[in-house]
Amino acid sequence: MEELSLHILDILENAREAGATKILLWIRESRQEDVLKFKIIDNGRGMGKEMLQKACDPFATTRRTRKVGLGLAMLKATAEACGGGLRLVSCPGKGTRVEASFQYSHVDRPPMGNLAGSIGVFLVGTQSIHLRYIHRKNGKRFVFDSKAFLKQAGGLSFQEPRLFALLLNSLEIEDKD
Ligand SMILES: Nc1ncnc2c1ncn2[C@@H]1O[C@H](COP(=O)(O)OP(=O)(O)OP(=O)(O)O)[C@@H](O)[C@H]1O
Ligand SMILES: [Mg+2]
Repeated sequence: MEELSLHILDILENAREAGATKILLWIRESRQEDVLKFKIIDNGRGMGKEMLQKACDPFATTRRTRKVGLGLAMLKATAEACGGGLRLVSCPGKGTRVEASFQYSHVDRPPMGNLAGSIGVFLVGTQSIHLRYIHRKNGKRFVFDSKAFLKQAGGLSFQEPRLFALLLNSLEIEDKD
């Protein structure tokens, strides 16, 4: 995949498919420390030991529409090719944590891409997931909370076109560094 934001979207979709009601997306980019990391923590159904060991194998999937699951396998390959790696921690019935790291300056590291768009698309497709998104980028900290955002919107849903534009706007992080 050409963009990290698409990998992030994929991991968010996994959390949704696992029945998560709460998701924390945490991203840290530091040019100074030459690192880019993200963590996605969900409270979905989790994975048992056996599934956890197989989860990064392209043929391990519990989806029924096709026989391969590529999300985690591709993310792992990309992270490892960029001087980083992938870590999965999961507990059945409690949830899953996916952590990916990359060398920030690695020539093969994909760009972040349209993160606001990916998160926006994810939220439009969900009715009741509470997403907290924290992004630290070169010393600046950005926080977005989907529940707080909806509360402020006075009961409108993410499907409302007016609200979607506002949502994309408020997901956009200051990118001047
Ligand atoms: N957050 C999660 N909670 C519970 N199980 C998960 C989670 N993420 C992944 N899994 C399990 O690992 C499998 C592999 O995930 P992966 O993203 O690699 O492929 P997929 O979601 O099955 O298919 P694709 O991502 O290609 O649409 C999933 O089918 C699911 O069983
Ligand atoms: Mg997936």
